[in-house]
Order: sequence, then structure tokens, then C-alpha cells
Amino acid sequence: MLHFKPALAFAVGALLMSATAPVTARDTLARDERLARLALAQTRLQMVKAATATVIPPKREEQLGALLYADPNLSLNRNQSCASCHALTPPRIKATPSRPTVAAFIDPRNTLTGSAVSAGSVKNRQGVLNAPSVGYAAFSPPFHWNAVDGLYMGGQFWNGRATNLAAQAAEPFLNPHEMAMPDKASVVARLQESKEYQRLFLQAFDLSLAQILTRKPYPRSGAIDAAYDAMTRAIAAFEKSRMFNRFTSKFDYSLAGLTTLSAAEQRGLEVFNGQGNCAACHPATPTFAPDGSVMPPLFTDFSYDNIGLPRNIDIPGNPAPNRGLGGRADIGARDASGADIGKHKVMSLRNVALTAPYGHNGVLHTLAEVVHFYNTRDVLPRIADIHAKGFAVSAWPAPEIARNVNRDELGALGLSAAQEADLVSFLVTLTDGYAEWGRDPRVPRGTPSPYATMPFPPMP
Ligand code: HEC
Ligand code: HEC
Repeated sequence: MLHFKPALAFAVGALLMSATAPVTARDTLARDERLARLALAQTRLQMVKAATATVIPPKREEQLGALLYADPNLSLNRNQSCASCHALTPPRIKATPSRPTVAAFIDPRNTLTGSAVSAGSVKNRQGVLNAPSVGYAAFSPPFHWNAVDGLYMGGQFWNGRATNLAAQAAEPFLNPHEMAMPDKASVVARLQESKEYQRLFLQAFDLSLAQILTRKPYPRSGAIDAAYDAMTRAIAAFEKSRMFNRFTSKFDYSLAGLTTLSAAEQRGLEVFNGQGNCAACHPATPTFAPDGSVMPPLFTDFSYDNIGLPRNIDIPGNPAPNRGLGGRADIGARDASGADIGKHKVMSLRNVALTAPYGHNGVLHTLAEVVHFYNTRDVLPRIADIHAKGFAVSAWPAPEIARNVNRDELGALGLSAAQEADLVSFLVTLTDGYAEWGRDPRVPRGTPSPYATMPFPPMP
């Protein structure tokens, strides 16, 4: 998007908006520092509270959601769950201090093989898009048209077609390329198989699974829909839990004043906010919730953009480029000019060191490639496709969708190779679990997140 805007519902308001004069990179940094200092005072307070807080037991809904999320019985061939493509455990890669492993809620098979797309429950069936992380997805506001900025924002999926997490969770079970169940009744029938689900649905939703008729012809009682909806709400509750929203990266602890970034990481942060212009769409600053509490930086403004990624001809079947937001029938119908074609959701960059491959089509494989792309897309010579000589080093193919490519904010950043490397170092500081893997005496093992006792703002 074109101008920095504080994250929506958690808008900072006056403080940030006072910068109406043309904003230079230097101003941005000064403002960031001001904000960070403000956040600091508050997060230090939170740290003290966190250290003395008693652990709050998860709610029933959340517990049920955890079981559902990892249950392969809810897929056609009983071989796939949400966790298959959004894993709850770290990817199996060799850990080094600069490449730690924590759960990043992505498809670990893709990280291992570089494949952009995930296999479904049915053999040889797969989707055409890269599975994004479920981490921090809960903060995405409901999908909406932002009249002030003239942009669509929020929602779930690369094209925002699900307004919130519960609506999102309704899709994978019935998607033939994913869990492939024929209909809602068959999913509810699988739920009925479990005594534990029967107990938990009763406790969490006052809903008796056993009494629902799931054999054809189903009565039109709405009972199947009610059970299915309850299931999606439980999954959403789990995805809103601290497990997916940990805020335990080195960057978080450094904002709270517990540790400091290395010289390279600090330079990277300055490039991120300044010459690299990354913060224009992936804001790195804390904002404030309406109740005045600090909203940690989420590294997305939840808008949509076409950054001009090249076509990934390695996706099995080489499908036509995904038209993203503008490819949706409802969006297309409202806008005949096609202003949203090729735009995909700005994803959070938290844990991005662990979420390769990158982009909706997974065409880029390392953070170094991503940064090089933003820096040189419009500068280096064109090649035919991603298999041509020099790809991602000395040349780039054309954008897969030429319409609406953002040329104002990215593509020719003029960064040196050293600045590109610094930027990558900074991105690695967004990896959670720093207390566990960082070996930093200032942040010993078990140090709670600076935000551990801060209630999250209401999640859609
Ligand atoms: C076969 C792999 C696969 C399975 C199984 C799967 N997903 Fe996904 N998930 C994906 C892909 C691919 C996308 C992106 C699709 C799109 O944008 O159209 C996605 C997108 C998402 C998103 C959107 C994130 C965002 O920031 O927009 C969420 C949340 C999510 N999945 C949760 C789930 C849940 C919950 C389940 C189980 C009910 C599940 N997924 C099952 C592959 C999978
Ligand atoms: C104009 C808005 C915009 C700017 C500026 C921007 N990004 Fe992005 N970023 C996006 C969008 C949109 C996507 C998803 C694009 C897609 O998949 O088609 C994205 C995706 C990414 C991804 C991949 C995320 C994933 O989960 O696959 C990374 C990494 C990233 N950006 C880093 C950066 C860095 C570093 C900079 C600065 C050099 C930057 N971005 C500048 C909008 C932006």
C-alpha cells in the first residue's frame, strides 16, 4: 500500500497520524524509536506481571480445538489433519544459532523439499498455492473495504475469501485437494465416532453429537450445520491461543529492553524501516489497542498487493497464475476495472526464517532471494522463466500477472549486497522461542514473552 498506516483496529491514532508531512526514512526511524520507547515502559511492566502470573488453564473450546486440529480421522482417507499442512512441531531441519527451529505452523514437507504446494488426503491431488503460516493469523481483522484508504483489508487466505478463522476452518475439510470429505454430514459422522468429542461438544457447546442423524436423508433440523459450525469455532479458539501467538522473538525481547540486536541486525532493522521500505506494508512498530495496551508489531498491515512475483512453473500441472483478490467472483463483480487482480495478502513476517518457500506461489526459496527480489526486480535483465540462467541472482522473469504490479514502493531499492545481508539478519530476529535457542544470558530459558499477561485485543 502507498502510505504507512497503523494497524487498523489497533490504530495508534494521534501519535502516529501527527506525521502528516512527507515522511522521510529518517522521520520513520525517529517515530519508530519514540514508539518503541513508549512500548518499552509498558512491556517492562508486563514482564513483571508475567513473571508472577499463574498459568491460566485453556478453555474447553480451545482444548477441543486442539484435538480437532490434529485429528487425521477428519479427512477422507484418515491420513491428514490441519496439522499436516500447518505443523505444531518444528520443521525437521538442522538447527544452528542463526537458524533455530520452532513450530512455525507451515507444511514441513515443503520446507524440506522446496515444494510450493501441499499434498492432499487423496493421492496425487494437490492445491495450487503455498500454505501460509497459521501463526499470528488470528490478528487479521474481518475482511472489509477500508474506505479511508480505498483498499480491501483483513480476512484469511491469500485472497481473503474467508472473513475470519472460523470461516476459514470450514473450508479444508471439504476441499477435494485437502481433506477431501464429501460433505458436512460425513465430517459430523466422523466426530460422532469419538467419545471424547461427544463429551467435549456437550461441555463446550451444550451440543449432543450422538443425537444428530448423519445418514441420508438428513432431516432439515440444522443440527449438522450447528455441529459443523461449533467445530470451526473450536478450531478458531485454538488458533487464537498463545501457542500460535507467542511473541517470544529476539525482536520482542529487544523492544522490551531485555536484550539488544547485534550490529548487523540493527542495521537490517534500519534498512527495513528506511531505504528498504518494507515497513510500508509490514509495519515493525508497536501500536495501541483501544484500551491503551500495547499491540506488538505484527509485520503486516493486512492489505493486498501485487509484488510482481514470477510464475512458478514447477507447481505440478503448471496451473495458470493465481489472480488473488481480484480473481474472486464477488470482488470481480464489484470492480470491472480489475484493480485487484494479482493482489495477494500481505502475510506477517513473524517466524519468516522458518516458512520457506515464500509467496503465494512459493517461487522464492530463501530470504536472501526474497530481499534480492525486492531490491532488484526492476533493475536486472529479464529472463524467460525461473529455469533460465541467472534466475534470482543476476536476472528475473516478468511478473506472472502484469496488472497492478506495485512499482512505487519496491523493485529498485538501490541496496548494497551488505544491506541485503543485514536485512536477512534482521528477519531472523523475528523467530519465536529466543529464550530457548538464543543462548543469551540476558534472556535465560523460560523467560516469558514481554506480552505474556497482556490480554490480546478481541480477535475476529
Ligand atoms: C493440504 C494442506 C492443507 C490442509 C490439510 C489445511 N491447510 Fe490451511 N492452508 C493451506 C493452503 C495451501 C492455504 C492457502 C490457500 C489459499 O489461500 O487459498 C491455507 C491457508 C490457511 C489459513 C490462512 C492463513 C492466512 O493468514 O491467511 C489458515 C488460518 C489455515 N489454512 C488453517 C487451516 C486449518 C484450521 C486447517 C484444518 C481444518 C487447515 N488449514 C488444513 C493448506 C492446508
Ligand atoms: C507494497 C507492499 C509491500 C512492501 C513494500 C513489501 N512487501 Fe513483503 N509482501 C507483500 C505482499 C503483498 C506479500 C505476499 C505477495 C504474494 O505472495 O504474492 C509479501 C510477502 C513477503 C514475504 C514472503 C512471506 C511469506 O510468508 O511467504 C517476505 C519474506 C517479505 N514480503 C518481506 C519483505 C521485505 C524484506 C520487504 C522490504 C524489502 C518487503 N517485504 C516489502 C507486500 C509488501
